[in-house]
Amino acid sequence: MPVPKAELHLHIEGTLEPEAALALAARNGVDLPFASAEEIRAAYSFTDLGSFLDLYYALMAVLRTERDFTELADAYLARAAAQGVRHAEIFVDPQAHLTRGVALDTVLDGLGAALAAAPERHGITTQLIICFLRDRPGAEALEVFEAARPWFGTLVTGVGLDSTEVGCPAAPFAEVFGRARDAGLRRVAHAGEEGPPPYVWEVLDVLGAERVDHGIRSLEDPELVARLARDRVPLTVCPLSNVRLRTVPDLAAHPLPRMLDAGLLVTVNSDDPSYFGGYVEDNFAAVRAELGLDDETLRLLAANSFHAAFLPEDERAAHL
Ligand code: ADE
Ligand code: ZN
Repeated sequence: MPVPKAELHLHIEGTLEPEAALALAARNGVDLPFASAEEIRAAYSFTDLGSFLDLYYALMAVLRTERDFTELADAYLARAAAQGVRHAEIFVDPQAHLTRGVALDTVLDGLGAALAAAPERHGITTQLIICFLRDRPGAEALEVFEAARPWFGTLVTGVGLDSTEVGCPAAPFAEVFGRARDAGLRRVAHAGEEGPPPYVWEVLDVLGAERVDHGIRSLEDPELVARLARDRVPLTVCPLSNVRLRTVPDLAAHPLPRMLDAGLLVTVNSDDPSYFGGYVEDNFAAVRAELGLDDETLRLLAANSFHAAFLPEDERAAHL
């Protein structure tokens, strides 16, 4: 039985399996430049974050209706439940859909239907975090934020920041993160995935991020490590993603053990599991096999996931 855990770094669009993409393309009359699931999988050969994002955004073309988003999320939740996930804080990229003509209510109501059914259907509680794309303007993020207000508190519980990191400063998103704080939403941001430590400092100090997604390059700056450890800032690490996007040379070289040794509140997550070769328990199994982490450390990582979750204290305690 997989250890019970929370998944805190999961892009719902990154759970689109090749078979599902082809079925949705046929149902929605979308032309894909791939004739089979094997052809899609053959394209999963990434050299960096950018080469992955190109395919990730291109395959989203098949997601068009509320039902598509409901089925996508339901399929993820079924897989997650089988991998021991009891609570999932799920990312969605609204701008990736709005910019291709899919309305916000299609995306959010579609996902919302699956998430509302998840406790009964899959034994998983959920939250939804809307992420802003850092390679698009801050003003656009503000528009999306305001348009999403009707879902705040009920479905949407947080905001995040993702997409291209290097060369895309976080500062243009300070205003939208400030509004999110004022609206009672939680704040997370990708940083230190490909970018050096100043990118992590920026999301902490300029955006007020409460969790850092990835953050693996933080180890390059001892002062940053001290700050993250002192403030118990969780880092949502995604080992298989880091290998596939070549931010680490191989799993055996992954900094996860050093991050734990440095006293950081680290969690293990799947990021975009369809693209990176595994869901969250597959990531746990991989770090056990390749990094030699023992059962106690794996239990610590699972416990960390509940400590780092945006759960009310009574619900957190029930998981620990
Ligand atoms: N969007 C989806 N996956 C991502 C990742 N690993 N980094 C940045 N943006 C993303
Ligand atoms: Zn991510």
